Amino acid sequence: MGVIASAPAKVILFGEHFVVYGEPAIVLAIDKRAYAKAEKRDDTRLYLRSVNLNLAGYFEGGGFKIEKGDVKEAKSKFEPVKLAVEKVLEKYGENVGLEIEITSTVPVAAGLGSSAAVAAAVTAAVGTLLDVKMSKEDVLRVTYEAERCVHGTPSGIDPAISTFGGALLFQMDTGFKPLETKMDIPLIIGNTGIERSTRIQVEKVREIRDKYPRVVDHMLSSAREIVLRAVDAFRANDLKMLGELMNINHALLYGVGVSDESLEWLITAARKAGALGAKLTGAGGGGCMITLVENERLSQVLAAVERAGGKPFVAKKTDEGVRIEQT
Ligand code: MEV
Repeated sequence: MGVIASAPAKVILFGEHFVVYGEPAIVLAIDKRAYAKAEKRDDTRLYLRSVNLNLAGYFEGGGFKIEKGDVKEAKSKFEPVKLAVEKVLEKYGENVGLEIEITSTVPVAAGLGSSAAVAAAVTAAVGTLLDVKMSKEDVLRVTYEAERCVHGTPSGIDPAISTFGGALLFQMDTGFKPLETKMDIPLIIGNTGIERSTRIQVEKVREIRDKYPRVVDHMLSSAREIVLRAVDAFRANDLKMLGELMNINHALLYGVGVSDESLEWLITAARKAGALGAKLTGAGGGGCMITLVENERLSQVLAAVERAGGKPFVAKKTDEGVRIEQT
């Protein structure tokens, strides 16, 4: 039996990286989810299995034992999950053995927030299994702690969207506000297939900002203005303006050094095939790009992104944040 919970992946439409410096960003939960199944064990092991990554192992008495896959990879993927479980156990007040199985349709290390989606799903599944009363804000706090373990200095945007779903306007000091939009946001996501570390990409931007503070500070102001104009575009249902703003946002991200050749190929191909706009999404340096496409051009742009070497798929917004699937 056990409890199954799930949480959505995300795409950042505007403002990644600049959000780490306090600027606003717009993020959308998408219809790809991570699932976590939690069951009690008779011993005190924390047994973790990732179906898609083909990894399994357990933590016990301060050590980690691998059962399937590469030990380094398993530890790096499982440490944040362990941290999330420990935070829930602190609330529960007792150490119990648990078995957790993770199944995810979210590509990893691709800018779609897979680690936050997994952490939110695990937190909710374990909380419900142990009957620990957890509000969505509690799930958000635990997921944020887990993300710190993965990324170092995360803004908190990924935990927020995986927990609450929908479309959010996010800013570090003021938190998040649902972004009301009746607009269908026709997006294609193109995965370059190149995995990268968010932590390293965030450090790159920090280095360039430390070196050229007055240049980058102007870019931060532009990034803020882009988000404010995008909010206007959402209100006015203006897809063309959203596309143009995406292109400008990508130029800024390119400027701070987080695009790469694989992303540029896909972005150029999408624009040439008639997309309204295209940009990298998430941390960059590989991972995914997004492109805004009118319905009548969807198949053309899908084909172009694929020809350019990407793995494209159509993404739909989902309003469902973290949720319990089965008790
Ligand atoms: C990662 O999805 C988005 C970044 O802005 C990092 C963060 O906000 O924590 C690159």
